[in-house]
Amino acid sequence: MAHRARAHQSKRFVRAAGRVKLGCAGCDRLGSKGERVTNAIDTACTHQHFSPVHLFSYIGGSLHCEGADLEEVAAQFGTPAYVYSAGTIRENFRRLDLALSSLDHLICYAVKANSNLAILDLLAREGAGFDIVSAGELFRVLKAGGRADRCTFAGVGKTAGEIAYALREGVYCFNVESEPELARINDVAGSLGLIAPVALRVNPDVDARTHKFISTGKSKNKFGIGLDRAADVYAFASELPHIRIRGIQTHIGSQILEAAPFAEAAEKLAALAADIHARHHIEFLSIGGGIGIIYEGALASGTPAWWTSPALPHRMTPEDYAAAIVPALAPLGLRILFEPGRFLVGNAGALLSTVQYVKTTPAKTFTIVDAAMNDLIRPALYDGRHEIVPLKESQDPATRMDVVGPVCESGDFFAQDREIPPLAAGERIALLSAGAYGFVMSSNYNSRPLLPEILVDGKDVRQIRRRQSLDDLIAGETIP
Ligand code: LLP
Repeated sequence: MAHRARAHQSKRFVRAAGRVKLGCAGCDRLGSKGERVTNAIDTACTHQHFSPVHLFSYIGGSLHCEGADLEEVAAQFGTPAYVYSAGTIRENFRRLDLALSSLDHLICYAVKANSNLAILDLLAREGAGFDIVSAGELFRVLKAGGRADRCTFAGVGKTAGEIAYALREGVYCFNVESEPELARINDVAGSLGLIAPVALRVNPDVDARTHKFISTGKSKNKFGIGLDRAADVYAFASELPHIRIRGIQTHIGSQILEAAPFAEAAEKLAALAADIHARHHIEFLSIGGGIGIIYEGALASGTPAWWTSPALPHRMTPEDYAAAIVPALAPLGLRILFEPGRFLVGNAGALLSTVQYVKTTPAKTFTIVDAAMNDLIRPALYDGRHEIVPLKESQDPATRMDVVGPVCESGDFFAQDREIPPLAAGERIALLSAGAYGFVMSSNYNSRPLLPEILVDGKDVRQIRRRQSLDDLIAGETIP
């Protein structure tokens, strides 16, 4: 397989059978005293090995996130709650960064995937730029210590107010989706006496073979400017007095599991970029985000063995992704930007929940939990599948059940007719791969308070957002 091996740099602790041990997950080797350790990184380990894609695993029969026992986390902060692994996010960032190291590149994290300040701070410290889609996201990046001149501003509907804010803060580039938007950016920049740096978002008409709601690179989607029209729109942009052409951008969709659509988009865009560069002298090409993650088999995918098992179909790795696009992009000599969201944070998060009731009807068993569709909407909106595992490891044979929330909608489910170890009231579960498009898409529907978010870093457990109170629910409302 085309994996690129690397040595780990970070250090984590795990607790097994009540004792804290150091070990190495990257190569699953035995610990220094001969004990078997899983899902921990040994700083002394000099082996070249694969990075695990996440740091959730059972240790001593209890699900851990890095060095934290999730039963203890749930007891301390209550459920439902989101938990994130800082080490996983760092590892994902470093692994992708390394895979792309043959290019002059910048990874601009797509803030929409998870915009908690602590996550933005963590990624800013790793050297990430940011891909933002609103004034609110720019505000968050700046509050977290990120730099505006490392931000690209995307989105089809930027308002004049958002454009002015981003111009004053000095964003690196506006990714422009239409001529009317170009005209508006030009006007706003003119009124402020500034020059706006822009890239055109080009729609390469590539089928990303993903869910129809998150596919963006086909000509029937609302995004971007068609390949055939791009040269004309660049010519129009070059005439505008307050616009500076800086780059070219594309994004074909999200949760893409194959390298081929990325290769196709890179080839199409590279050909156009060479032409645009010759006419307008551009500085960068952004190939967007979209690298898919593991949802089914998520827990097992935390081990290197899963990725190398001949029994399982090959899944696209960051190295495969790089291999697919680098040949087309490297010869351009441009700076290449990437906008991954889900890849960096998706497998780094879990939603913890507690079983409230088990309701058996003649047709089905419904396991009713305290999390709901307002907390994690992906199953209802995209048929998203999140692996569900009990926090206490179970040896019981799986039984068929629906796992549902308390909201008054039939769409409020996390699993339907799924084989899961039997669960009793009071038992806790984790919905895995919930770090991206989880909390950020949550709402107060049914007047349910927004959840706390917890960040685990080694043994360190920090609340990075508190649970909303009932008073928070009505803050800002008035009765006339
Ligand atoms: N760049 C642009 C212009 C985008 O529109 C997106 C995502 C990204 C980058 C980041 O894509 P990623 O690397 O995360 O795939 N809520 C949906 C996903 C919506 C994605 C929207 N755009 C979900 O839960 O699956």
